[in-house]
Formats: sequence, C-alpha cells, structure tokens
Amino acid sequence: MKEAEEQLCEAARKGDTERVKALIDSGADVTHFDGEGLNPLMHAAKQGHALVLTLLLSAGAPWNGLSPSGLSAGDYAMQEGHSEAFDLLLNAGIQAELILGTIARKENKSEDSGVDYLEDRVSFSEDKLMDSESKAVMMAWEKPLMEAHAKAVCSGGGHVLNVGFGMGLVDSAIQQYAPASHTIVEAHPEVYQRMLRSGWGQKENVKIVFGRWQDVLSQLETYDGNF
Ligand SMILES: C[S@@+](CC[C@H](N)C(=O)[O-])C[C@H]1O[C@@H](n2cnc3c(N)ncnc32)[C@H](O)[C@@H]1O
Repeated sequence: MKEAEEQLCEAARKGDTERVKALIDSGADVTHFDGEGLNPLMHAAKQGHALVLTLLLSAGAPWNGLSPSGLSAGDYAMQEGHSEAFDLLLNAGIQAELILGTIARKENKSEDSGVDYLEDRVSFSEDKLMDSESKAVMMAWEKPLMEAHAKAVCSGGGHVLNVGFGMGLVDSAIQQYAPASHTIVEAHPEVYQRMLRSGWGQKENVKIVFGRWQDVLSQLETYDGNF
C-alpha cells in the first residue's frame, strides 16, 4: 500500500478529482514532494487538470514550490500549454502576494516599506539577482513568465510602465514590442547603476525614474499598460 502522499501525487497526475478530494479529506499532506521532486500541484499542472489544482490550492498546496530543476507548477502548466491551469496558478500567486502585502502593511513590517532591502547590497550573477542574505530577488527561470507579462502589458500598444527592473527580463521583452514610451521605476541604487551601465538610459523610448514607486508617483503619468 502506497503512502497517502504518493497516492495523492498519482491521483493528481491522473486528474482523479474524487480520489484527490478523498485523500485531502483524510489528511494527506498536499505539500509532499515525491521521489521525482514533484508535488501534487506540479503533477496536476503538467497534465492541465484545473479542477484538481483548485482542490489542492484550496487545501493549502503552495503555488510557489520549486522542483529540483527550479520549475514551479506554473512553469509546468505553461510549458505544456495548459492555459486554464496556468491562469489558476498565476491568480493563486497574485492573491497570496496581495494577502501577504496587506498583512505586512497592517503589522507595519519593514518588508512593506522595502527600506531594509533598498539599503542592502545586492549581487548579480548571470542568472540571478540576490539580496545580501543570498535570497533570490529575481531568477532567470522567470523569463518566460516575464515575456508573457510583457505581451499582455504591450497588447494595447502606446505607453507602458514597469515598476522594478530587477534583471531587466520584463523590460527587455517590453522593448521587443517597441512601445511609444517605456517608463521604468527602480528604487535600488545598485540595480539603477547597473541599468545605466548597460545602456538603458540611452534608449530613445525609455524613461527611467529612480526611487520607490511610492515616492515618485507625481513623476508618473497614465499608461496603456502597467506592470
Ligand atoms: C523581482 S525584481 C523585478 C524583476 C523584473 N520584473 C525582471 O523582469 O527582471 C523587483 C525589482 O523591484 C525593485 N524594487 C523594490 N522595491 C521597489 C519600490 N518600492 N519601487 C521601485 N522598485 C522597487 C527591486 O530593486 C528589484 O529590482
């Protein structure tokens, strides 16, 4: 008899909604990673089983867990072209970020102001931007997601705003759509310096606004696409 968690991975892969529900109700751990390093959410995402994803997310499965190759359930859904599954996972991520942001604001935590991070040193490698505690701020595997965002943000053409340059993934993708204007707000001094060194200040349609978006609102306008 396989452990409940192994059964949950299998049921998620097969899209067996009833079995997934029964296993969750009997207490199977939805955060379990199997021998392949995949969790039930990733199995369901790979196969595009949207209903199973909904059950797992409601039971607390983490939308942002990573496989050994650094892929999330959302990456798997996108790789396999399962757009409904991808949208579900993206929305779960957005909701989680909004809720965490609200809690942080209520508790008036420093994460909300971002001041600690903005005063930290950051480091860049080819595929990562990291903070002083070696926590990834942005990673290269997020590129396809950034490209999808750029496509959406530029779909109306015209004037586009991006807050946070990071590794410049979304901004590089936005440039491919040649928007009439492309405003980038960046608050970290080292990220800002790196942008200037790599020529972003010279691009004709690019306007860089240095500072926290909260502090530079008066320098911003109305945009056709915002990221
Ligand atoms: C996750 S990265 C963005 C990655 C970017 N989308 C890309 O494609 O590479 C977040 C960026 O936002 C910047 N940032 C953080 N807080 C900010 C704030 N309050 N206002 C503007 N930029 C901020 C960080 O310095 C960092 O460069």
